[in-house]
Amino acid sequence: MKYTKSIENLLKEANATGEGSLKRTLGSWNLIALGIGAIIGAGLFVRTAAAAGEAAGAAVTLSFIVAAVGCAFAGLCYAEFAAMIPIAGSAYTYAYTTMGELVAWIIGWALIMEYALGAATVSIAWSEYLNKLLGGAIPYEWSHSPFESLNGVSGIINLPALVILFVLTMVLIRGTQESAKLNGIIVFIKVAIVLLFIVLGWQFIKPENHTPFMIPEGTPGHEGFFKWGWGGVLGGAAIVFFAFIGFDAVSTAAQEAKNPKRDMPIGILGSLVICTILYILFSHVLTGVANWSEFADPAKGKEASVAYVISTYMSGYSWLATGVTIAILAGFSSVILVMLLGQSRVFYTMSKDGLLPKVFSELHPKYSTPHKSNMILFVLVGLFAAFVPGSVAGDLTSFGTLLAFVLVSAGIWILRVKSPELERPFKTPLVPLVPILGILICGGMIVALDYTTLKVAAMWMILGIIIYYAYSKNHSKIRNSEK
Ligand code: ALA
Repeated sequence: MKYTKSIENLLKEANATGEGSLKRTLGSWNLIALGIGAIIGAGLFVRTAAAAGEAAGAAVTLSFIVAAVGCAFAGLCYAEFAAMIPIAGSAYTYAYTTMGELVAWIIGWALIMEYALGAATVSIAWSEYLNKLLGGAIPYEWSHSPFESLNGVSGIINLPALVILFVLTMVLIRGTQESAKLNGIIVFIKVAIVLLFIVLGWQFIKPENHTPFMIPEGTPGHEGFFKWGWGGVLGGAAIVFFAFIGFDAVSTAAQEAKNPKRDMPIGILGSLVICTILYILFSHVLTGVANWSEFADPAKGKEASVAYVISTYMSGYSWLATGVTIAILAGFSSVILVMLLGQSRVFYTMSKDGLLPKVFSELHPKYSTPHKSNMILFVLVGLFAAFVPGSVAGDLTSFGTLLAFVLVSAGIWILRVKSPELERPFKTPLVPLVPILGILICGGMIVALDYTTLKVAAMWMILGIIIYYAYSKNHSKIRNSEK
């Protein structure tokens, strides 16, 4: 027998108030800010130049459009679910109602890769940029994992990454509204810097940098299918996909939204649209001011590309380069904050369902936040951030996210067939076409990930299934209630 949660029970849970439940404090602007908080980060400031230099050339603007279209299909499906089932847990909860407990567990397990590993990856990048801002003042061994070394010096522990994780964990424990306030301030700073770069950089665009628009066939170092022309646009899309990760984190906070039926679709789709527009304009300016080939050259703009572009071509604006570094640090902080928030809310729901131990859903007596879960998460994410290189975690984050997108898209289609009568405050258009395209595009990006990532991801998923059969299945509330 397949154990699925009924929507009626879920809604009862969602509407429960009082002790033991999360507080509804977030409005639509908070939710849009939450989305932007998680979206704009390393993807924009670091991977845009990488995509241009490695694969797409000036057509990286098209790569952003391709990645955005893939996310939009999944985003439309997320929006229908999030408005219909406004409960913490996001994709995990949606799978529980449509595809049964085992699939829900699998998706919850994959979401750990997205949120926990995502937070670890970005905190490692945060540590790098902090050191850059401080002129390399933090010794190498105290800001790198033991698996990294440079000029004979080996890393010991990444302390700055641990510090930022600890500070943000404390903010989260204080409460969702406090976190939302801090997030709002950070989002303001990073959007302001992105806009400044677009407006001030526009006058420095040289049209010849945009021609040819795509990398021409036969360019040395660009031999593979995904390295030039239209193939390069697709290759670039896979690289900049990381920049969109996070819009779905809005749905993990559904139980804290004041008016989820209206505000969840606004939060999810609104943040996605705003970021897509900013990304296209930003990449248009970046590849217009400097030539894409400079982003492939380690001696030029391969590293710290935005600062390179400003200091090399935009004379008189060196203050903007410092501003960009500060915006990047602020931007990374809000990405980490929302990822940690998302992860603790997924754990909260899995624990309420009995699939994880109770400690993950115990709330703080004063702040009503899952404080113990936040602390455990700090230790888990901290272990990765302190001792694992950032590159290992990045692609796994994409895997977890894409798997969630595929299953959420499938879930919308399944639920339309299974329960057409349910009230849907927001309806995904053109079902089943939109979910099918979501499955195909996101599934395609999974296949395009490198072999090592897929192998590690498979091992992680197998570990998850072992834990399910060893612990979660026996503790599942649904199963026990029907015995
Ligand atoms: N989208 C987030 C970033 O780019 C994960 O940092």
